[in-house]
Amino acid sequence: MSRVEIHGYAIVSDNDRIADAAGRTPDVLRNDADWAYFQAELNRSDVTVLGRLGHEANPNPRNRVRMILSSSSQGIEMRGDGWWWNPERLSWEEAIRRVLPHGGRVAVPGGRQVFDLFLGIGYDAFHLTRAEGVTVPDGIALFSECDEGKSAETVLSAVGLKPGPRQVLAAAAPVSLVIWQR
Ligand SMILES: NC(=O)c1ccc[n+]([C@@H]2O[C@H](COP(=O)([O-])OP(=O)(O)OC[C@H]3O[C@@H](n4cnc5c(N)ncnc54)[C@H](OP(=O)(O)O)[C@@H]3O)[C@@H](O)[C@H]2O)c1
Repeated sequence: MSRVEIHGYAIVSDNDRIADAAGRTPDVLRNDADWAYFQAELNRSDVTVLGRLGHEANPNPRNRVRMILSSSSQGIEMRGDGWWWNPERLSWEEAIRRVLPHGGRVAVPGGRQVFDLFLGIGYDAFHLTRAEGVTVPDGIALFSECDEGKSAETVLSAVGLKPGPRQVLAAAAPVSLVIWQR
């Protein structure tokens, strides 16, 4: 198959949470500079792969190509709002060959089950933004292993990724970005 490059994107709190206990993104994890960075990255991508809840919660005004994970899919099928994929019925290799037959760049913005799944499939890069000084009690972890006391950094290191320099996206808070790469 032609080359497929997989990039993960998340903004997390100091305790590695992507959402609050109710599954919503709290305001403390919303940041204009991170949003602008994320949107520019999506513009460079050929497909956005996300969980059904994130798909339903986030409108798609630019009509970007989406691949939505759901147990309701029979394997991979095109619906009005994008490709619907069930990894239990069809492998990633087969699914992405349908969506990007000539290869391309894949953006993975979560949520947690999707981030977990791609740890096994293999990220080429993970763009980890941190809202420094922010704690989200009882929230949804970036990776399941973070619930067992492992930091996001430990999990990313364990799958062979290495951190680049810390970049400050917004000085006031601060909000910082580290890109982990193979
Ligand atoms: N801070 C961040 O960077 C960040 C990133 C991502 C999301 N979020 C926030 O987190 C919340 C949503 O995340 P979430 O983790 O609760 O949900 P999610 O990943 O958006 O959606 C979960 C759903 O996706 C489907 N799914 C996921 N993995 C699957 C698999 N391996 N096989 C089959 N289906 C699968 C299932 O749909 P079915 O029920 O249809 O089977 C599951 O119920 C939202 O508030 C979102 O905004 C924040």
